Amino acid sequence: MKVLIINGPNMNMLGRREPDIYGPATLQEINDFLKKKGNELGMETEFFQSNHEGDIIDKLHGAEGVFDYIIINPAAYTHYSVAIRDAIKAIGVPVIEVHMSNVSAREDFRSKSVTAPVCRGQITGFGANSYLLAMYAAKMDMEMRKR
Ligand code: DQA
Repeated sequence: MKVLIINGPNMNMLGRREPDIYGPATLQEINDFLKKKGNELGMETEFFQSNHEGDIIDKLHGAEGVFDYIIINPAAYTHYSVAIRDAIKAIGVPVIEVHMSNVSAREDFRSKSVTAPVCRGQITGFGANSYLLAMYAAKMDMEMRKR
């Protein structure tokens, strides 16, 4: 099972960025942890981060026929990128949306996700473990779909 994990804008700043909200780990440290967990789950993982909407869209388009599942933290794009929403909808690869923080417990504008309605589901609020929970969910979803 091949899984693509995408992170949107400012996620490259983890470790330095608002550590009270996002914790002390860098994105590289989180990805290393997820890669190890992925191996244990029999998953091949690839990681992609970009601060540019179009690059994220191109990556989503290119995932078709290459990856079985996508886990995406669109970061701030979650709240307004119709273009990323349309890209998720355009591809045949199932997607889970992830957030490290509990977006419902923060500013009102973070409660709205334009991307979640076109995803299989959303996991929010568990820090780096949000990605891990999404990996478990992706694996279970794939197994369920095979039946
Ligand atoms: C985030 C939540 C977003 O509202 C914010 O813009 C981010 C990170 C999260 O993982 O909690 O950049 O997606």
